Amino acid sequence: MRPKRLLIIAHAPSENTVRLRNALVEGARAPEIEGVDVRLLSPFDTNPKEVLDAAALLLFTTENLGYMSGALKDFFDRCYYPCLERTEGLPYALCVRAGHDGTGTCRAVSSITNGLRWRPVQAPLVCRGAFEERFMEQCRELGMLMGAGLETGLF
Ligand SMILES: Cc1cc2nc3c(=O)[nH]c(=O)nc-3n(C[C@H](O)[C@H](O)[C@H](O)COP(=O)(O)O)c2cc1C
Repeated sequence: MRPKRLLIIAHAPSENTVRLRNALVEGARAPEIEGVDVRLLSPFDTNPKEVLDAAALLLFTTENLGYMSGALKDFFDRCYYPCLERTEGLPYALCVRAGHDGTGTCRAVSSITNGLRWRPVQAPLVCRGAFEERFMEQCRELGMLMGAGLETGLF
């Protein structure tokens, strides 16, 4: 059987965010998860076909100026209409690295994904405040939940 594709679309502009992105990937690629092909792309490198080929998405962005990163917004700007009505029900999860807030980003992403009729399968994970090592574990867990959910057909 063809492996199901989990596409991780991650904007990681700093050392901390690279670590968090890697933790998401590491969780999703946990050795016990089988039959899931994990692909990592920058939002800038993600085109609509990549989304159409995915069985689930994991989005990772920083919060900048109360909103998602320009990189993730650019992805939505380019992919919204080509994906509209072709990706309804697509399972996804969101992880936000926010220096002090994160709510604007969660709100903005969910208003776009509502429009696309994508399906949130995990509560948004907001890694908020000064960097903490526990964020790494939270990201690994989210990646693993997404991988395992696809493996078991949970979504
Ligand atoms: C221009 C700029 C704007 C930012 N705006 C916000 C913001 O509105 N809300 C927030 O929680 N953090 C904000 N931050 C902090 C970033 O989210 C944070 O620096 C980023 O996620 C990288 O994390 P790190 O500093 O741990 O590497 C901003 C950072 C920059 C550089």
